[in-house]
Amino acid sequence: MKLLYLPAFYKKLKRGPQVITPKDIGIIISYTGIGKDSFCVDAGTGSGWLAVSLARVSKKVVSYELREDFKKIAEKNKIIANVDNLEIKLSDVLKGIKEKDVDLITLDLPNSEKAVKYANKSLKEGGYLVGYLPNTEQVKRFVMKMEHYNFTDMLTIEVIVRDILVRKEGVRPSTKGIWHTAYLVFGRKHTNSEKVNKKI
Ligand SMILES: C[S@@+](CC[C@H](N)C(=O)[O-])C[C@H]1O[C@@H](n2cnc3c(N)ncnc32)[C@H](O)[C@@H]1O
Repeated sequence: MKLLYLPAFYKKLKRGPQVITPKDIGIIISYTGIGKDSFCVDAGTGSGWLAVSLARVSKKVVSYELREDFKKIAEKNKIIANVDNLEIKLSDVLKGIKEKDVDLITLDLPNSEKAVKYANKSLKEGGYLVGYLPNTEQVKRFVMKMEHYNFTDMLTIEVIVRDILVRKEGVRPSTKGIWHTAYLVFGRKHTNSEKVNKKI
């Protein structure tokens, strides 16, 4: 029974606060299409599992973390992951995001909706904002805030991976597994042409 299927790379990483695991990391990367030229901002860093994963595929990642003890864990994971394009800032993302022209901003904190206005300022036109939100109440607040700022291409999903038992007696889904981790909300910052179209 593979309750949490972890590739060898993730088994090496340290854990502090709750981490985002590969099933959700994979879809964040694939659904936003980031690549070797992308600039990403992430908050809160926590154990840095998402931050190091983004750093492995993009050009540069800046990650915001409030707590020094969690930053230390993430710095260890940065070394283990062997990425030098990740900057971890001891800083409150709810006081603003300094970076500009960002391709992707990921938010994983209890009140992520409060960072949407800063994300809107920092993203480039068409850039992606992704919220990793364990509870439906958070999803509602986050989506409402994104709609307020005219984000487009909105998508809210949950990623469920089913473990299939393959045995002589028969092949069927396992009755146990990890079901819910969090909901994922995706959206893109509107472009000027989209703003103009709205007015018409
Ligand atoms: C669940 S953890 C993030 C886990 C991370 N995404 C990972 O994959 O390892 C949430 C983190 O957000 C941090 N945090 C909460 N509010 C914050 C804020 N306003 N600014 C920056 N970090 C914040 C917490 O200290 C905690 O480390």
